[in-house]
Amino acid sequence: MDMIIKGGTIVDCASDRLIKSDIYIKDQKIFEIDEEINEKGVEVIDAKGYFVIHGLVDAHVHFREPGYEYKETIKSGSLAAAKGGYTTVAVMPNTNPVIDSVEHLNLLKEIIKRDACINVLPIGAATIEEKGYQLTDIEKLFKNGIYGVSDDGQPIMDKKLMKEATITSNNLGIPIMIHSEDKRYVNNGCINEGKISDRLGVKGISRKAENNMIARDIELAKEFDLSVHICHVSTREAIEMIRNAKGSGVKVTCEVAPHHFSITEDIIIEKQSIGKVNPPLRTEADIQAIIEGIKDGTVDMIATDHAPHSKEEKLKDLEQAPFGLSGIELALPVTNINLLNKGIIDIFKMVRLLSINPSKLLGLKDRGIYKEGIADLAIIDLDSEYTLKEENLISKGKNTPYIGEKLKGKVKYTIVNGEIVYREDKQCL
Ligand code: NCD
Ligand code: ZN
Ligand code: ZN
Ligand code: ZN
Repeated sequence: MDMIIKGGTIVDCASDRLIKSDIYIKDQKIFEIDEEINEKGVEVIDAKGYFVIHGLVDAHVHFREPGYEYKETIKSGSLAAAKGGYTTVAVMPNTNPVIDSVEHLNLLKEIIKRDACINVLPIGAATIEEKGYQLTDIEKLFKNGIYGVSDDGQPIMDKKLMKEATITSNNLGIPIMIHSEDKRYVNNGCINEGKISDRLGVKGISRKAENNMIARDIELAKEFDLSVHICHVSTREAIEMIRNAKGSGVKVTCEVAPHHFSITEDIIIEKQSIGKVNPPLRTEADIQAIIEGIKDGTVDMIATDHAPHSKEEKLKDLEQAPFGLSGIELALPVTNINLLNKGIIDIFKMVRLLSINPSKLLGLKDRGIYKEGIADLAIIDLDSEYTLKEENLISKGKNTPYIGEKLKGKVKYTIVNGEIVYREDKQCL
């Protein structure tokens, strides 16, 4: 359906300017951008008072299908993502079966084709069943459509295997996305090792688990001139290591999750297992370091690590409950409140962190707001304030500490390939 987005303010990251223009979308592409466009017989979307931005891109989500459909499906996850303003997400392979073979990849691709209302890009496992012992056929997976390689959820403890997976991914031009967790320092812990784990009398995870592994893989990248992407960075030491590495020319990129720059471990006292995530929520000093990293470009992107789990699972005690927070619907408001409204970033940088940079990591092209570009857009209202209710969430995963909290910023429309896939009070498809 052709449409005109009328009266909106385009966030143009090519010029770092806000442009008041209409956008005419025809045959799935941006046909025209002009101050005033009028056409008969096309749908008109009133965007007055709203920003029109690149559709958001999330390089790291868990949609759980195949295998854990009770937590999330490609359908529920992509609808939730559309509500969050996302037009593209990359799904991690820690499903059941793990996406470690072409057969399993094809199964996933079929589900995506059938059920996804946005672009859902598969990430392939680095090792068979993510067990860390035997490499998958990364090249074959690539030829069949993976956009990155990761054993997310599990570390690759064997440095030689990590090196091989990295070399192969580099040669193919796709990112290796590293879940940095040195098992020797996890110690069956369930939250950050520190004052909260002491106070609650539960086992903590040493910061060394993350820091050691990131140090190892920066070293690997440096020694062999390889590119690595570090997932969900959460400690101030890691930020510092990545900053230094970048400074000396090491090809390392990284992502941070919204919960790691907005919530400290203290929330676990009140919200228990709802605040259990890997890597764990840390301290105010870590948040400050991440914010510095966002400001100075050490942090390349925001990725939600959307990790939905069922109510029953998250009602378990801290030791028994699974790790992970649901977050794909909340990244925009959480970033708005914690970074944009505080003047830490401007709106152009926000779009870079939430769309342009992850898009580059995944090797995507043609998703800007310009004539002839693919119409993957979000229309957002950054001023609207509300209290998050559980029933507001489309995701099957209600496991977020933000329920009951005040948020600011809403997605009005999400447009994928020139089709409206989400509008505020109506689900479409
Ligand atoms: C993720 C999951 O549930 O799959 N959990 C999490 O706490 N982040 C795995 C992961 O991202 O490491
Ligand atoms: Zn199988
Ligand atoms: Zn991970
Ligand atoms: Zn993850």
